[in-house]
Amino acid sequence: MRRKFVAGNWKMNKTISEARQLITELLLALKPLEDIDRAVCPPATALPIAARLLEGTGVGLGAQNMYWQENGAYTGELSPRMVAELCQYVIIGHSERRQYFGETDETVNLKVKAALTHGLTPIVCIGESLEENRAGKTAEVVSRQTREGLADLTPEEGARLVIAYEPVWAIGTGLAATAEDANAIHRDVVRPALTEMFGDEVAQGIRIQYGGSVTPENAAGFFSQSDIDGALVGGASLKAESFAAIARAAAGA
Ligand code: 13P
Repeated sequence: MRRKFVAGNWKMNKTISEARQLITELLLALKPLEDIDRAVCPPATALPIAARLLEGTGVGLGAQNMYWQENGAYTGELSPRMVAELCQYVIIGHSERRQYFGETDETVNLKVKAALTHGLTPIVCIGESLEENRAGKTAEVVSRQTREGLADLTPEEGARLVIAYEPVWAIGTGLAATAEDANAIHRDVVRPALTEMFGDEVAQGIRIQYGGSVTPENAAGFFSQSDIDGALVGGASLKAESFAAIARAAAGA
């Protein structure tokens, strides 16, 4: 049985004081939901206060990105050692990073390896664009992103991954994938690729989250599917009540 995992990707939202407020509200609502894994991924400036507020609560903390080098002349970047001082998780290869900041399957692979080396759990994002979807290339794209982003990992490393399938056309649009369609990608494309790379036992244990316009209204439908093991939530993670409602749906699934 895979333990459900709901994470909030705040993206470029919330100042330090806003983050303090949201986390304080969230903790009350999330604390009782101990049967699922819960995490928030605030912007980098809010990570220190978030780490302090979340310590000992059972709610995890993730960064939204990091570089793969340990230190050096890389202006503007955060290293895995810096992220690991504060966080347990790091989102890698989000489609917005691929789209606006030139990330590729190769850089995703370097970052995933660096995260694992430093004891972080990478939440590795994959997903096809609208154009690729319309051209019938979803399986091909998602399979390639999985194989190339996770290339050269051992089964032991594979066992420590979390994957987030986020179709780009569903992100921030209010047009979520149907639960059945998302589950079919998880079950028939992503997990078989993981099985080929890491073997069946490891692949069966890897959580595959769905992301893209997840709301309190549609969350339960996703979590009732065989291969949807949680959610990576954007917009609805910016309010305590909606994120908590999604987490409760996961806990009840
Ligand atoms: P939305 O939930 O706002 O569609 O964002 C999803 C996402 O990109 C999470 O990483």
